[in-house]
Amino acid sequence: MEFLELSKEHLTSVMDLEHKLFPEDAWSATSMASELAATHTYYLGIFAPELIGYAGLATAAGSFSSDIQTIGIASDQRGNGLGRQLMQRLIAKAKELGSEQVMLEVRADNAVAIALYKDLGFEQIDIRKRYYQPAGIDALIMRLPIRQPIVLGIESTCDETGVGIVQGNRLLANALHSSMDEHSKYGGVVPEVAARAHLEAIRPTLEKALTEAKLTMQDIDAIAVANGPGLAGALMVGIGAAKGLALAHNKPLYAVNHLVGHVGADVLERGAVELPTIALLVSGGHTSLLLVRHLLNDVELLGETIDDAAGEAFDKVARVLGLPYPGGPQIDKLAADGTASIRFPRGLTLPKDMEKHRYDFSFSGLKTAVARHVEKAQDAGEDFSKADVAASFREAVVDVLLTKAINACKDFGVNRLLLGGGVVANARLREEAQKRCSENGIELRIPRFQLCTDNGAMIAALGSQLVMAGTAPSSLSFGSESTLEVTQVQTL
Ligand code: KG4
Ligand code: ZN
Repeated sequence: MEFLELSKEHLTSVMDLEHKLFPEDAWSATSMASELAATHTYYLGIFAPELIGYAGLATAAGSFSSDIQTIGIASDQRGNGLGRQLMQRLIAKAKELGSEQVMLEVRADNAVAIALYKDLGFEQIDIRKRYYQPAGIDALIMRLPIRQPIVLGIESTCDETGVGIVQGNRLLANALHSSMDEHSKYGGVVPEVAARAHLEAIRPTLEKALTEAKLTMQDIDAIAVANGPGLAGALMVGIGAAKGLALAHNKPLYAVNHLVGHVGADVLERGAVELPTIALLVSGGHTSLLLVRHLLNDVELLGETIDDAAGEAFDKVARVLGLPYPGGPQIDKLAADGTASIRFPRGLTLPKDMEKHRYDFSFSGLKTAVARHVEKAQDAGEDFSKADVAASFREAVVDVLLTKAINACKDFGVNRLLLGGGVVANARLREEAQKRCSENGIELRIPRFQLCTDNGAMIAALGSQLVMAGTAPSSLSFGSESTLEVTQVQTL
């Protein structure tokens, strides 16, 4: 006997059984087909080897509730506990999806089913009179409450000290301290300064998060920490704090990947990251293009920058233009008054580069081209428009980022694109992403800005996905991994 997730290919056998089980009010093949194919449903069948039972669960995007859609066991297979097993698996799935309750409707005259549901923890919360026609039988509405784990997440990979708290897929707190100002006079993040700032900020940020969530450490079920990729010294502070808390309060600890955390942040918006998706992560530290088939065990790095990160390029060009750090917002503002009239180079987009580096990025040539352009104008004593330079530079970055991201969507037949990282604040990037995605029938996801930039909530959210899926915690022996591969979602 085998339990298998059902898809459209199983339609014929499901309909055969459906007609046997519900001769009077069987679902139509059309509605069954769309149920089996829908992304928000999970149908499970029992094969022995032919289909002898099935059940379905639906969880709407962004909802914290799942519904049992249907359940049926072939009449000659009843009394063997198969219905219970199907229900237990659907409940486990609902838990994994972050649902806080499972709802169902049952005929009031089906004593066997009602007894089973009660045994599984369901309670009757309502009744619908004469719901099942033509017999006029009442429907009982039953509910199973699910207590989702409360997970505290710590982020310290770069210059943001973040402590977030989530319960399941629900955001409870997102406290943040940034050392950005301390780096401004250097024009970029200084690792030692960042590490020291984390040391000073970690306790107050933790306390702020707990206060915001109205919780104490006793209420926390698990701790998650980003152990890479990032700055070694900065990472060590977050990891040290997480290990100390885990030991002192006897909590399981999960070491998770910062980059995958950026993708996981979207569960806090939608209840789930809709998969598969292409993810473009652009910040001061990374420019990565990912193919995510499964958040916890199937993340592929398609490409990344071979020199500067996108945000770093903004920061460096800002310096060339005499603008303060961080340069991204400054250039964005200045560019709004200019026109993208200068054609700056688009790194790694020539045909020969596209063969070897189809999904990789390079911004250092662009940065140099901008610097040359400015120098030349200055040497010649020409009056040039900084706004036009800013707009043209911004256009080049946005063009390359989106060309490659949309290529990835098309190449892999994935019609979703998720954006993350601080550069997502860029007005032109957002506008152009929307335009190109609509043109190509791609659904664009941009989580709210506080969840796009580095934060503790995204680390907590990824940790929470691991806990809900029943994954074992990490051992206490993991260390900071500056160059952690994106394929390694959790370090054990
Ligand atoms: O994700 P984030 O807050 O932190 C880390 O990189 O760790 O990203 C910061 C980066 C900086 O390089 C900043 O210049 C860039 O994001 N950035 C922008 C904009 N706002 C911030 N880049 C372009 N346009 C913006 N509006
Ligand atoms: Zn980041």
